[in-house]
Amino acid sequence: MKETLLKIREEALSQIRATDADLEAIRIRYLGKKGELTAVLRGMGQLTPEERPVVGQIANEVREAIEAELTARAEEQKAAELDARLVKEKVDVTVPGTPALVGHVHPIARIQREMEEIFIGMGFDIVEGPEVEYDYYNFQALNIPPDHPARDTQDTFYISENILLRTQTSSVQARTMETRKPPIRIVSPGRVYRSDAVDATHSPLFHQMEGLVIDKGVTMGNLKGALEMFAQTMFGAETKVRFRPHHFPFTEPSAEVDVSCFACGGKGCRLCKGEGWIEILGAGMVHPNVLTMGGIDPEEYSGFAFGMGIERIAMLKYHIDDMRHLYENDVRFLTQF
Ligand code: PHE
Repeated sequence: MKETLLKIREEALSQIRATDADLEAIRIRYLGKKGELTAVLRGMGQLTPEERPVVGQIANEVREAIEAELTARAEEQKAAELDARLVKEKVDVTVPGTPALVGHVHPIARIQREMEEIFIGMGFDIVEGPEVEYDYYNFQALNIPPDHPARDTQDTFYISENILLRTQTSSVQARTMETRKPPIRIVSPGRVYRSDAVDATHSPLFHQMEGLVIDKGVTMGNLKGALEMFAQTMFGAETKVRFRPHHFPFTEPSAEVDVSCFACGGKGCRLCKGEGWIEILGAGMVHPNVLTMGGIDPEEYSGFAFGMGIERIAMLKYHIDDMRHLYENDVRFLTQF
């Protein structure tokens, strides 16, 4: 029996030490309920009372030796596995990373912000108005009654008889007069809508920035000064501003405003189509009817207003020849700015 036990020990230990040893299988094979060592222990009943403690002690030593070896090997295997994983999953931190693609500001938003900065610098507040607007604020309060011919050039999308998509940010003029008392000095950027067909210079959705100043003694000279300051900051210190008589129902007198071509300095080139001047906006002195409807006394206060297309400014500044580029979201185009 003693020999059997020593043999079991020798065999078990050598199996445990073998490469790739399946430790759990070995444990079951020798120490399990039906294991070889267990079988020997069961046979101990046949031994004489003198032999029993001697063999029992050896059996215990064999069991302890096998258990100790199993535990030691298990640790070894775990450490080896970890080593293997560390080698396999090694990260070379010196390899250059994959750059993350970061988006950037759209050219329209960028020009809008630039415009806002310029007017903030002159003491204007930025205000916003709704794109879904009452006919009243978009037309009637701007001196354009229901059958006025000016509506023909600004056909739009109607939500109902008297609610529409605003055709101009001028609607914010009327709203501002209701909510603020003079002195008023605001610009209002935002989307406007017209039922125009898409081409290189038209889109049913585009952006405008409105300006409105109302105070005692505001003159056309103030309007010219503000727009000249804007034009020179936006297009360069050499830029000149030219007013041409025009008509808008909500300003009187009204003007269309040109800037001297900043590409050729006014000599005439492709950008200004040989004119030397580029039209950028409409403006004028706020009509007394508009002030009155806004609850402001035209005898006491006067004001000027202007409205310009943000796309137009962006196209001029970045030499973009087709407005559609601004809406198609082609990254090859957008990443150029
Ligand atoms: N709202 C006018 C347009 O869209 C522009 C304008 C604004 C003209 C303010 C005069 C004063 O054409």
